[in-house]
Amino acid sequence: MSEDNRESSGIIDILKKRWSPRSFSNKNISDESLQRIFEAARWAPSCFNEQPWNFIYFRRGSESYNKLAAAIMDGNKPWSINAPVLVLTVARNSFERNGKSNNYAMHDLGMAVFSLTLQALSEDIYLHQLAGFDAKMTSEIFRIDDNFSPATVLAMGYLGDPEALPDSLKPSEKKRTGRKPISEFVFMNSWKKANNL
Ligand SMILES: Cc1cc2nc3c(=O)[nH]c(=O)nc-3n(C[C@H](O)[C@H](O)[C@H](O)COP(=O)(O)O)c2cc1C
Repeated sequence: MSEDNRESSGIIDILKKRWSPRSFSNKNISDESLQRIFEAARWAPSCFNEQPWNFIYFRRGSESYNKLAAAIMDGNKPWSINAPVLVLTVARNSFERNGKSNNYAMHDLGMAVFSLTLQALSEDIYLHQLAGFDAKMTSEIFRIDDNFSPATVLAMGYLGDPEALPDSLKPSEKKRTGRKPISEFVFMNSWKKANNL
C-alpha cells in the first residue's frame, strides 16, 4: 500500500481534505447544515433515477440515538457514540418502477453518501462510515420494511481532540490511510494490462 500522497497528488482540494476521523467535538450540527447535507444526497445519480437511498438521523442525547448505538459493534463504540449525529443509511432493494431487484441500490446509496460527505466537508463536518453494526437489529428496532436493507452507520461531526480518544485509537488518528497505486487497479485495453499513465 502506498503512503499517503494526497498533498502532491494533483486531485481537487475537497478530496484531499476528506478522511475518516474517530474524534468528534461536542459542537452540534445545526438543522440548516443537516438540511444542506441531505440536499446534497438528493443530487447523486442513480440507476433509472430511482434514488434508492434513505437516511435516518439521530442526535446524541436522544433515546433513539441510544437505540442505534446499542446496535454498533463493540470495536466501533468507543469512538462512534461520541459523534453528535449518527445516520443509518438504508437502501431500497427493489425498483419502484417494476418491483424487480435493484442490483445497483448499494452502488447508488454509496454515491449519495459520497455526495453528502463532500457537502458536509465543505462546512468542516467530517464523516466516518461504519459497517460494524448489527443491520438486522436496526431493521427490527426501527421497523424497516422488508425490501429495504440497512447498509452503514455514518458518524458525523466537527473534528475533536484526538487526545480524548482511548490510547489504542490515538495512533490511527494521527496517520492518514494509504492507497494502492493506480497501476494495481487501472488497466489499458485489457484486464490486468499495464496502463500508460
Ligand atoms: C462501507 C464502509 C464501512 C466501513 N466500516 C468501518 C467500521 O466498521 N469501522 C471503522 O473503524 N471504519 C470503517 N470504515 C472506514 C474505513 O476503514 C476507511 O474509510 C478507510 O480505512 C480509508 O480511510 P479514510 O476514510 O480515512 O481515507 C468503513 C468505510 C466504509 C466505506
